[in-house]
Amino acid sequence: MLSAGVGGGETAIRAGKLRRVMRLTFPQGSGNEFAGRVAAVGAGVDLRRGELVWGLMPHGTFGSIADKVVVPRDRVAPLPQGLDPVAAGSLPVSGTTAITALEEKAAVLPGERLLVRGATGGVGSVAVQLGRHLGAHVTAMAGERNLDWVRELGAHVAVDYRTTGPADLGPFDVIVDLVGTDLPAYRRRLARGGRMVALAIAPDAVVRSLAAVAFGRLLPRPVLSFSNNPAAGTVARLAELVEAGAIRPVPDRAFPIEEIVEVHRRLEAGGVRGKYVIDLTAGRH
Ligand SMILES: NC(=O)c1ccc[n+]([C@@H]2O[C@H](COP(=O)([O-])OP(=O)(O)OC[C@H]3O[C@@H](n4cnc5c(N)ncnc54)[C@H](OP(=O)(O)O)[C@@H]3O)[C@@H](O)[C@H]2O)c1
Repeated sequence: MLSAGVGGGETAIRAGKLRRVMRLTFPQGSGNEFAGRVAAVGAGVDLRRGELVWGLMPHGTFGSIADKVVVPRDRVAPLPQGLDPVAAGSLPVSGTTAITALEEKAAVLPGERLLVRGATGGVGSVAVQLGRHLGAHVTAMAGERNLDWVRELGAHVAVDYRTTGPADLGPFDVIVDLVGTDLPAYRRRLARGGRMVALAIAPDAVVRSLAAVAFGRLLPRPVLSFSNNPAAGTVARLAELVEAGAIRPVPDRAFPIEEIVEVHRRLEAGGVRGKYVIDLTAGRH
């Protein structure tokens, strides 16, 4: 393996806060996405030994932060041309989640007003880029220190989430929420025909997050949700967007595997720009 991303949501999973919702028993591996070289293939598999690939663990499983993973063929795809293999490991989950949210669930149209809440994290940093590429007018909510940075990623407007609340914003046609709190208040900022895609479960308000999604999906301006389980076509779409220059991986910083504890501490402290990535080649030459 060459690299694996560390998703922001994994800290809550590791802490056991979502074990009931996700029906997890411990111990668990960590990491859901990866980039690497094919070490071996099963009979009839159309990949070559040594080929550069990227991919995701099977739905609902973890363990990509490892020397090797064994996954079904439909979870891997050739790495897009020219992509740095260490940075690449930060993109399969974030990228396919953002594509499913914006293209498949919300079906964002050019000119629509899009709010990305949690814009500087792994998924948000890709959602901002993709929203811009799709022709939306993108408002990004981020921490104060990251407002310029998220504008550089493609946001038309960047607002500080610590000083700006839902009542100060909108209306929007689409809201992508990566935070999980205050969902009804944000949903009220949707214009007629608007839709919210809510992807996060707030670890300290699990029942409230789940209830907002369960009731919200029945409403005229619906709250949509999904658990990312991309079809091969979504991974192919991600490669296409990367090769077209519409999306780039945003690795905040790479760490050796020995520093995974430090990575989780940093995620819990906040302030990530994109995604922390584990460089599985570090110290192995
Ligand atoms: N449903 C799915 O299929 C799916 C797939 C992937 C991820 N997720 C979930 O989506 C969430 C985000 O994942 P991620 O990997 O992008 O996490 P992340 O990298 O930790 O990003 C979270 C971002 O939210 C920001 N933030 C925190 N509180 C905020 C607030 N009140 N308002 C606006 N922004 C706020 C953080 O900024 P600061 O650090 O500056 O505070 C951070 O940039 C997680 O809950 C994860 O489990 C769901």
